[in-house]
Parts: sequence; C-alpha cells; structure tokens
Amino acid sequence: MSPLNIVILAAGKGTRMYSDKPKVLHALAGKPLVQHVLDCATSLQPQQVCVVYGHGGEVVPQAMQQYGAKFVIQEPQLGTGHAVQQAMPHLADGSKTMVLYGDVPLIQHSTLHQMQQAGEGLVLLTVNLDNPTGYGRIVRNAEGDVQCIVEQKDANAAQLEIKEVNTGILLAPTAKLREWLGKLGNNNAQGEYYLTDIVAMAVQQGLLVRTVQPAQQWEVEGINNKMQLATLERVWQQTTANKLMTQGVTLADPARIDVRGNLVCGRDVEIDVGCIFEGDVTLGDRVRVGAYSVIRKASIAQGTQIAPYSHIDSSEVGANCQIGPYARLRPGSKLHDDAHVGNFVEIKNSEIGKGSKANHLSYVGDCTVGARVNIGAGMITCNYDGANKFRTVIEDDAFIGSDTQLVAPVTVGKGATIGAGSTITKDAPAGELTLARGRQVTIPGWQRPVKKSKAAT
Ligand code: UD1
Ligand code: MG
Repeated sequence: MSPLNIVILAAGKGTRMYSDKPKVLHALAGKPLVQHVLDCATSLQPQQVCVVYGHGGEVVPQAMQQYGAKFVIQEPQLGTGHAVQQAMPHLADGSKTMVLYGDVPLIQHSTLHQMQQAGEGLVLLTVNLDNPTGYGRIVRNAEGDVQCIVEQKDANAAQLEIKEVNTGILLAPTAKLREWLGKLGNNNAQGEYYLTDIVAMAVQQGLLVRTVQPAQQWEVEGINNKMQLATLERVWQQTTANKLMTQGVTLADPARIDVRGNLVCGRDVEIDVGCIFEGDVTLGDRVRVGAYSVIRKASIAQGTQIAPYSHIDSSEVGANCQIGPYARLRPGSKLHDDAHVGNFVEIKNSEIGKGSKANHLSYVGDCTVGARVNIGAGMITCNYDGANKFRTVIEDDAFIGSDTQLVAPVTVGKGATIGAGSTITKDAPAGELTLARGRQVTIPGWQRPVKKSKAAT
C-alpha cells in the first residue's frame, strides 16, 4: 500500500461559536475537536499530517505541537480546494492523500480504514440524509457511477432532490490531486475554489470514483455552533456509556456519566449518577463510585468503595479502601489497602499506610502515614510556613487525638499517642503519650455577663 498523507482542514473562523477561541480548539469529551481528528489520523500511521489553519489561529499549532504535524496557514480563505492546495508543497507524489476536517471530530478509524481498502483512484465518504439541505449532492449516472458533486447553491431542482451527500472526507492519489487542484476555477455561486470539483475531473479522465459510507452518521457530523457541540458531546458520552455497559459495568443512568479521557473498568464495577472521569482512570473489580464524584488521572484498586461527592485527582488508591462522602484526594496521594478517608478530609502529596484511617475533617499534606494509624477528627498537618513546605511522618500504629496540629517537620513515633487538642512542634517518641495543650482550669463562682438594659444607660 502506498504511504498515506492526511490533510486536516481547520481554517474556518467558526463565527457561530461566538468565541475568541478558534473553533477547532473547543473541547468535546475534554479534548479539543482537532485533537480528536489528529488522534484518529495518527492511528492510520500516516507519513505526513498537514493541518491547514486560518488567520488568527496561531494558537492551533501552539496547542497541537506535540503531534509533529506540519501546520500551514491559509490566508485568505478561498474555499476547500484552495485550502488543500496550501498543503500540497508538503506532500510527496507516489503517496495517497486523505482530507479530514478539524470540526468533524468523531470520524472513526474503522471508516477511514475502509476507505483505504476501497481501491485505487478517488474515494469519497458519502452519507444518505433525509434532509440533505446545505450539503454538496453526489450526482450519479444511470449506471450508478459518480459523475460529480454539486453544491447546494449551484444545484438545479432535480439535483436538490438527491439524498446522498458529500461529507467532504476523501482519499486521492497525491499526484492526481495536485494536478486536479491546479486546474480548479472559482466560477460558481460562492466564487470559491471547490475541492469537490476534482470529482468531475477524475470522471473526465476515465477514473472510477468509489464511495464508502460511515458506520454511524455521527462520525461525519460537523460542528458550527454550541448546540451542535453539545449534541455530539452527548452522542459520544452515550457511545462511551454503551461500551462500558457492554463490558459489564453497571451505570445507574447511562445519560448521567461523563468520560473525558479513558476509563478502564474491572468486573462488577458500579457507577452512580453524575460522575465525571478525566484522563486515564482505572477502576478495579467491584469498585463502587458514589454519585457526583469526580475522578481524574487515578487508579482505584479492587473492592474500594467511594461514597458520593468525592474528588480524586492524580492519586493511587489501594484495594478495599473506603473513601468519602465528601473526601478530596489531591495530586500525589497514595492510599494503601484498607485505608479509610472520610468526610471533609483533604489529602495532598501523602501516603496513607495499610488500614489507616482519617475519617473526619482533616488536612493531611506532605505526610507519610504508616499502617494502622488512627487520625482523629480535625487533625491538621501544618506543612507550610508561608515560604517552604515540610514533611510530617506518622509511624505505624500511632494514634493522633482529635483537633491536633502537627507542625512540620515533625515525626510521631511508632505506636505513639497524641492527646486531643495538641499542637505538636517536636518529635513525639514511639510508644509514649505526648500532650501539648493548655491545662484545664475551673474558675469558682464565675458569673456570665448579663445584657445591660437600655433604660440603665
Ligand atoms: C463542504 C463541501 C460540501 C459538503 C460539506 C460537508 C466543498 C466545496 N463543499 O461544504 O460538498 O457537503 O462541506 O460539510 O468542499 N475550510 C477551510 N478553508 C476554506 C474553506 C473551508 O479550511 O477556505 C474548512 C472549514 O473550516 C470547514 C471545512 O473546510 O471545516 C468545510 O468548509 P465549509 O465552508 O463549511 O464547506 P461547506 O460549504 O459546508
Ligand atoms: Mg460546512
């Protein structure tokens, strides 16, 4: 098979998005539209990817530089044929060139692969629409062979009746494409250089034009406004939800889950409503995620239960842990098996040992907690002096009384007990009880103040 080039058209202004951001950088499932297309393009292992962007769109190459694609500017924008022309100097003959669109984000590898398999010559991706208004129509002869594409604005009454339309996506031999593009004119209703005019040229040269249809219509839907963006977002989320359910995941409501990345689930995973998963997330066997939890770049091992409204970011959670409700694991947190992190507990850049518990109202930051430690309600690590951060170490089997402050750097030794309400500034020795708080006093006969009456003043 000859090498493949991919040209992604992304020069359109996106006026109807009413945004300062170029249209193709708006996100679908947490990822810029053009990145969806670039990912799909990359999956075909092309020799060269060329993105044609428009005036004011310099942020597009900046945002997408990790792809190693060639970025070419099209200025002014004189039509789709003119756009592809801008890429041609970067594409070698002896290859094939596929044209994709930065605002048609959900095109699938399988469909493009089918186009590659369709044979030599020109291959068009077409679709049949009940309402073809606005699209270029695929005109065929009596034998059913494609003759040309006629744009809506150039079509006659009979052509307007045609339901088969051009998606815009096509595959052509690069040398032929170069030749045809060189011959394009703009004598049409819009005064543009139409890419679609190459179809009639191919037919004139006696080439057979083949067509392929996408497996799902949403693959070829473009985005011009926020409604279309939201509609395709839902389509994609429903598709993702269906995939998860097919693999055995229980979703309380497939219409109320958002996956903005890659969610991998084991067996018997249950996800309640309103959960958001971002980046790479792994849920082990029997993990349950409570309602309205947000989990980002995290792995949760088997049997762990996450109660509602928990936030987990860039963290690793062991097996059979209990998290939440209202727990927050910030980046760099690692929970070993059987750990418990309860309501209004914030953990940051800390390790919580096996079977340790912090069940209520705590801040555990820059801390290494051993195994079987009990962190009482309201314990706080004072890890920051206003300029620098310091670590706290709590060794195995320690018991930290409620409302304790551990002023880092500080170590609580193995099996140590800290009395409630202590402010610990020096290391607490292993196995001993350490207290650091004011002594309780009772003032005999003390009277509460009484409110003075207005008349008396
Ligand atoms: C185009 C096709 C039409 C097809 C439809 C599918 C042509 C002439 N017509 O029409 O047959 O049914 O798409 O949606 O190709 N673009 C550039 N530079 C330009 C012009 C366009 O990069 O100078 C990009 C746009 O950003 C957009 C895409 O090309 O992503 C399509 O352009 P658009 O103007 O929307 O073409 P349509 O008139 O919809
Ligand atoms: Mg369009």
